[in-house]
Amino acid sequence: MSNIAEIKVGEQTYQLPLIEGSEGEKAIDIRKLRAVSGLVALDEGFANTGGCSSSITFIDGEKGILHHRGYPIEQVCDHASFLEVCYLLLFDKLPTQQELSEFKSEVSDNVLVPEEIKNFYKAFPRDAHPMALLSSVVCSLSSYYQHEDSNAPDHFRKTAVRLIAKLPTLAAWAYKTSIGEPLVYPDSNLGYTENFLKMMFSVPNKTYQTNTDMAKALDKLFMLHADHEQNCSATTVRVVGSSEANLYASVAAGICALWGPLHGGANQKVLEMLTGIKESGGTIAECLEMAKDKGNSFRLMGFGHRVYKNFDPRARVIKADCEKLLAGSDDPLLKIAKNLCDSALQDQYFIDRKLYPNVDFYSGLIYRAIGIPTDMFTVMFAIGRLPGWISQWKEMMDNPERRIARPRQIYTGATPRDFPPISQRG
Ligand SMILES: CC(C)(COP(=O)(O)OP(=O)(O)OC[C@H]1O[C@@H](n2cnc3c(N)ncnc32)[C@H](O)[C@@H]1OP(=O)(O)O)[C@@H](O)C(=O)NCCC(=O)NCCS
Repeated sequence: MSNIAEIKVGEQTYQLPLIEGSEGEKAIDIRKLRAVSGLVALDEGFANTGGCSSSITFIDGEKGILHHRGYPIEQVCDHASFLEVCYLLLFDKLPTQQELSEFKSEVSDNVLVPEEIKNFYKAFPRDAHPMALLSSVVCSLSSYYQHEDSNAPDHFRKTAVRLIAKLPTLAAWAYKTSIGEPLVYPDSNLGYTENFLKMMFSVPNKTYQTNTDMAKALDKLFMLHADHEQNCSATTVRVVGSSEANLYASVAAGICALWGPLHGGANQKVLEMLTGIKESGGTIAECLEMAKDKGNSFRLMGFGHRVYKNFDPRARVIKADCEKLLAGSDDPLLKIAKNLCDSALQDQYFIDRKLYPNVDFYSGLIYRAIGIPTDMFTVMFAIGRLPGWISQWKEMMDNPERRIARPRQIYTGATPRDFPPISQRG
């Protein structure tokens, strides 16, 4: 096959290079399109536009494939821990035992946050959404390290480690603030996820016991969310970073992008749907009928996916952990979830359209079983996605062909006209 694409506009033909990725994905390289033709490409939401070349994550939605640095997500989740995945994404290699131990020590040495940051929490209203707090305090971290260049070789690793180490502390403090409990300091003797759970759930007047099953399930969820190539928040981190904004500011922007219900909020919607069924006293059958009714905008939350059209590989990985945690629970919402899922999977409408539970269906249930409140779900997602954002930022910064993100537009406003004095305006 030729490695040239031809675009015909009227009588004029323009030739542009065809390029191919390492998994056989083909693209027309339009970087010279405007220079040779005066034309630009219009692609709202960038659904057909490769914003970059990347070697971090590969997804094949039709086949249900998700690879990080070439390693299938199933194998990653079977053999690694979240911090190992962080290392893999950041440094493009699996760590040796010694490298992993050093990395874990660096992270646990950095879990404390500057003491003054506690004042930020006091300044927010008690009912502030934790994502508002999280994005603000992450951005404020930059001011404590403002004389460092986060992309300089001797500073990048320090900055990445700092963010990975401190985000759980900042996240747990957002939760403690919202429920009016004392902030719990991190414990460097505990593993990453155990430490986070302790900061979330321990109180000074009681002995805290780590629940290993819950910690393992949460660690796996963090791994499953670690990167998902050029989604809305990763693209935001790249766009902000392309202006050479520092890594803290770029990640804070990513957190804001993730906050939106169309991106990070789907698992919250799953729990809201289940609560709606419980409170309205509706049946599972009625819920499924509503989801199938084309005249009704209601959809079965946590089912279907924009990219994964046969199954969501992340959902397969987490299903068994979810069932294990649910088995020991008598939470009525979790029972509704199980019945709803079983019924949908036997319903011809969902079978015909290949609609299966996605990762958000299970993650919402696991968070609920762990005791994490619904408005902290997106915060959990942010902790998991952090290594992906940092790696995407670093890859962009290291690209010698990097340019500031500055898309074009097709102007549809008024053509030139004379500016009228205010007395003549109708
Ligand atoms: C994720 C989502 C937006 C993908 O939308 P999409 O790409 O437009 O979906 P598809 O084109 O694959 O849909 C195929 C068919 O299934 C239907 N469908 C898809 N998801 C559905 C759902 N959750 N409930 C009911 N019907 C659904 C569509 O209406 C369509 O029906 P039709 O062929 O009769 O017109 C959609 O599945 C959805 O809204 N899911 C619920 C929200 C959710 O869980 N989001 C998180 C995703 S990680």
